[in-house]
Amino acid sequence: KVVPERPVTTPQVPPPATVIEEAKRLAAWTAVDKHVLPEHKIIGIGSGSTVPYVVERIVAQGPEVNEGRIFIPTGFQSKELIISSKLQLGDVDQYPTIDVTIDGADEVDGDLNCIKGGGACHLREKVLAEAADTWVIVADYRKNSQLLGTNWKQGVPVEVAPFAFAKVLLNLQRLGSEKAALRMGKAKAGPIVTDNGNFVIDAPFPEEQMKDPYTLLARVKMLTGVVEVGLFCHMAKAAYFGNQDGSVTAK
Ligand code: 5RP
Repeated sequence: KVVPERPVTTPQVPPPATVIEEAKRLAAWTAVDKHVLPEHKIIGIGSGSTVPYVVERIVAQGPEVNEGRIFIPTGFQSKELIISSKLQLGDVDQYPTIDVTIDGADEVDGDLNCIKGGGACHLREKVLAEAADTWVIVADYRKNSQLLGTNWKQGVPVEVAPFAFAKVLLNLQRLGSEKAALRMGKAKAGPIVTDNGNFVIDAPFPEEQMKDPYTLLARVKMLTGVVEVGLFCHMAKAAYFGNQDGSVTAK
């Protein structure tokens, strides 16, 4: 009698946190070194866990370079980061033209289209991306993909006016996002509220629709009650991904 061999399973061990942090730092430092030049005076600072490494590298450029600069945040977190790093804070209504904005992303495809809004900051992030002459993405290797929705399964973040959320949820389901859901706070006691006082719906769409993010963006943005959509199409000049082996992939 032949006894079948016990199948060997390879446990999925996640990479240590330090590897991921190093990957974020590598991407951030590379982007700053390439795109934040001494002549840049108005600089946009994005949101998320990769952006502190951007600020770390900018601070390392020295007080003589940073003295004449104004830094514009995309939300509460980056505002605090700018203040605690002793950089000069400004706002986009004072400075609607930005030299360069560096931000994180939840996923970036082969054409540099991005999903953003994992931290619910995508309205301000898009304003700062559009206001910038150069918009650059920094992320670790897990965000690098060919098709949006491959790695980021949570769906497209859609910021909505609170009173319109139920109608927009229905609209999104009819548009093809069957599992669209209101984003809840950690204790699930209530919806998360953005820096702008709005709610966020996470809308996963089928692969067919994710293949054409620009059309999807246009459709979702047309829904009344939608404030902004976390699809950033044709906006990034470059994206840098730190890898596990210490290298950087530039797109
Ligand atoms: C927040 C964002 C962030 O930039 C995005 O979630 C990436 O964050 P992290 O650098 O922590 O991976 O879009 O709205």
